[in-house]
Amino acid sequence: MANKSYKCSLLSDGLLFASGAGVALLLFFAFYSFFSPSPPPSNYLHRQPLRQTITNTNTTSSSSSQQHCYFHTSTPPLNTDPAPSFYDDPSLSYTLQEEPIKNWDEKRHHWLLQHPTLAQAQRNRIVMISGSQPGPCRNPVGDHLLLRFYKNKADYCRIHGIDLFYNTALLQPDMFSFWAKIPVVRAAMVAHPEAEWIWWVDSDAAFTDMEFEPPMEKYEGYNLVLHGWPHRVEARSWTSLNAGVFLIRNCQWSVDFIDRWARMGPQSPEYRRWGRIQKALFKDKLYAESDDQTGIIYLLLKEKERWGDKIYLENEYYFEGYWVEIVNKLEKIAKTYMDVERRVKGLRRRRAEKVAMAYARMREEYLEKEGIRGGPHGWRRPFVTHFTGCQPCSGDHNTIYSGENCWDGMQRALNFADDQVLRAYGFRHERLVNSTAVRPLPFDFPADY
Ligand SMILES: *[C@@H]1O[C@H](CO)[C@@H](O)[C@H](O)[C@H]1NC(C)=O
Ligand SMILES: *[C@@H]1O[C@H](CO)[C@@H](O)[C@H](O)[C@H]1NC(C)=O
Repeated sequence: MANKSYKCSLLSDGLLFASGAGVALLLFFAFYSFFSPSPPPSNYLHRQPLRQTITNTNTTSSSSSQQHCYFHTSTPPLNTDPAPSFYDDPSLSYTLQEEPIKNWDEKRHHWLLQHPTLAQAQRNRIVMISGSQPGPCRNPVGDHLLLRFYKNKADYCRIHGIDLFYNTALLQPDMFSFWAKIPVVRAAMVAHPEAEWIWWVDSDAAFTDMEFEPPMEKYEGYNLVLHGWPHRVEARSWTSLNAGVFLIRNCQWSVDFIDRWARMGPQSPEYRRWGRIQKALFKDKLYAESDDQTGIIYLLLKEKERWGDKIYLENEYYFEGYWVEIVNKLEKIAKTYMDVERRVKGLRRRRAEKVAMAYARMREEYLEKEGIRGGPHGWRRPFVTHFTGCQPCSGDHNTIYSGENCWDGMQRALNFADDQVLRAYGFRHERLVNSTAVRPLPFDFPADY
């Protein structure tokens, strides 16, 4: 079909040369993935990896482990903006009510040619989007929790050179609750033509591995990445994937997909009908309103030939992890990592935050060597912990959880992540359940800890 010919990766030949991302990234994720990634496209080879060398550490480290580059580095704002571009077209719409954008790939391509400094490192450039409601939270600690979840994302983005946009305006008031992210993602695609990917992360999701980077080369042929399981999609379960965290490529396919997806939303005259269709098709769905998550699963099942081959369901690592599976393991995971550091002097070295990823590379080598695996039965740091059902802002948590479990779990996950950040600042939380008490890290921590 015609849709299959959409070429979503812009400027894939010739123009892109500067990022150096591919090589280092592939080396990095060769260890993370449980299977071998496909070989790099040939244009990766023309790029110069930035080399970051750790000296005065364990000299047995291989040279490949000493490379790292920040592959989606943000660029300072430019002070020129050539015209005309698609921004000068009065019919171009940021919203979902009007006609979807046409020829978006060509428009982005043209804009990138006008902004060569931004085009250079565009290949896997990511903009992260998150957001929460415009008013104060009903839960007395809700705003504090949202602040800490926001801080967690800001930390992750600063360390990885990703731009973060946090939105608190309801861009389309009739697209409320979980539908509210769709207009934001759609507007962000227009606001960030330099970004190849938009990464939506729900406000109640926290990064719990501050070093991990998604294996972008694996998503080369895809336009939408979510955490999920194809066999559960086939079994028609509405929890076969989670729509709280996703990567969507900034391209025409995505414009069309979002337009189609949003037609099941509350702003649409077909909303009630879609609620009935979803409830009938997914027997385990709890309520009769159409929701965004079931909407994606519906499209995967019923319009598979149109969308299916561009949607990747990731389940090799916690692209998005269910907090109940995770929070009780965090102390032991922290101990596992500390044990590795006790054995590897190089990992105990004090360091600047900007070179954190060089230590991530070194750590990866030892985690691999010691057979420390990820997933529900392993002891790796989970990448993202999502507090599905906890509703930190309203406090209306799902009644299957107690408020204490949610609160305690969030605090532990946030402090677990914060310890990884504070490492570069020379501090650590005394206990994961206490956000207040921190202690300075002694030299050579944790050798005698
Ligand atoms: C370096 O790593 C090797 C291999 O794990 C280990 O045997 C050696 O003791 C380490 N050396 C230092 C100085 O940490
Ligand atoms: C957390 O630590 C602080 C400072 O040490 C202490 O005053 C406070 O009582 C602790 N809170 C809990 C809940 O243990």
